[in-house]
Amino acid sequence: MNNFIFQNSTKVFFGQGCVKEYLACMVKPFATVMLAYGGGSVKKNGIYREVRGILEEAGKNIVEFSGILPNPTYAKVQEGASLARERQVDMILAVGGGSVMDCCKAVSLAAVYRGDIWEDFWAHPGVIENTPLPLGVIVTAAGTGSECNGGAVITNEEKKIKTGRDYPKLNPQFALMDPTYTYSVPVRQMVSGSYDTLSHIMETYFSAPNEDNVSDDIMEALMKNVIRNLRAAIRNPEDYTARSNLMWDAAMAENRVIKMGKLCDFECHNMEHQLGAYTNCSHGSGLAVIQPAYYRHIYKYGLPKFVRFAENVWGISRRGRTDEELALAGVEALEEFVQEIGLPATLREVGVSERSQLKEIADSCGISAGSYKKMTHEEILEILNECYE
Ligand code: NZQ
Ligand code: ZN
Repeated sequence: MNNFIFQNSTKVFFGQGCVKEYLACMVKPFATVMLAYGGGSVKKNGIYREVRGILEEAGKNIVEFSGILPNPTYAKVQEGASLARERQVDMILAVGGGSVMDCCKAVSLAAVYRGDIWEDFWAHPGVIENTPLPLGVIVTAAGTGSECNGGAVITNEEKKIKTGRDYPKLNPQFALMDPTYTYSVPVRQMVSGSYDTLSHIMETYFSAPNEDNVSDDIMEALMKNVIRNLRAAIRNPEDYTARSNLMWDAAMAENRVIKMGKLCDFECHNMEHQLGAYTNCSHGSGLAVIQPAYYRHIYKYGLPKFVRFAENVWGISRRGRTDEELALAGVEALEEFVQEIGLPATLREVGVSERSQLKEIADSCGISAGSYKKMTHEEILEILNECYE
């Protein structure tokens, strides 16, 4: 295996009832808590009442920061940072999905940093020398795995750039993960989130090295688990076993464990993020459109891995097929799964209204160094064109 350093500082409390049991204890050292959430789902499903009740009972000063919408913006980060400074917040409690968690990670840094965090940490990778405000998260929608890493994906609307960085100092101090909190997530969002999890695993699996390594074996098990449990959760959204598996799959895909020793691709994420910057589309849906087309472009460069994917993840037997045919059968199985779970298949469906927009999107995509086949902007445009309608 390649050399690596592994650290993950987030303490996880997982399971039904974990918020009631552990939240008061985890916020004990802090007098003023910023209670951050999204567009209001937490008020409808009762999570807000439960969390606020625990904070009140513990005697905390509560500073509310609400209205963090999907694909969080740098402007929203700045709003949160000013509020945190003005009200002398001691810690941030993010209650939501990836968007709320990511926004709060950036706020935790912006609140203690004098410069422009976009320029210094998101536009280019930087080194965080300050200590961000402590952050705890309560996950309400599974998928991104943001709860167990230091990654935060932020959109700069002025510059039309959506980009993520993973700074270990931004790992939440704790993550409370109660699968029943995800029951109220609309099915379409649940599917999109779980596809995001699957995509994180594939982006890591389809990258060098290809020699025998435990990360690839773990990823095959994880992919099969996501596929099986997503089917079960679509049949019954309140299937606790399915929802808890999907929730932990999401964390496992992004808590750095499977990335050890792997180069990691994430070119589809580069493309989807720019798609998001231009269309504000749901992250998982954008990925579902792009990924099968991308894999048709690159499978020849990682053929043995694509063959493994077909056989070990989708259970496709060789039956006289060549390696190439088998690899393509695996990509086809992925495409059929996208259809089966009801995700879109074209860029038109996720909000690209004109084919002519694609060039600007393609030209603004980052180029991954870890791909089996390093892309050019022309190839990205070709792929986006194939997915258009
Ligand atoms: O805003 P509210 O009203 O809360 O509604 C949200 C939102 O509309 C709703 N929702 C969340 N929990 C709910 C619920 N509705 C009912 N019941 C609940 N319990 O779900 C909608 C989507 O939420 P959002 O947080 O945007 O979804 P997701 O978790 O998919 O996060 C997407 C963001 O995360 C970034 C994406 O790019 C995107 O900006 N990512 C973050 C990553 C990371 N930090 O590691 C990695 C990913 O690759 C990804 O890029
Ligand atoms: Zn993702």
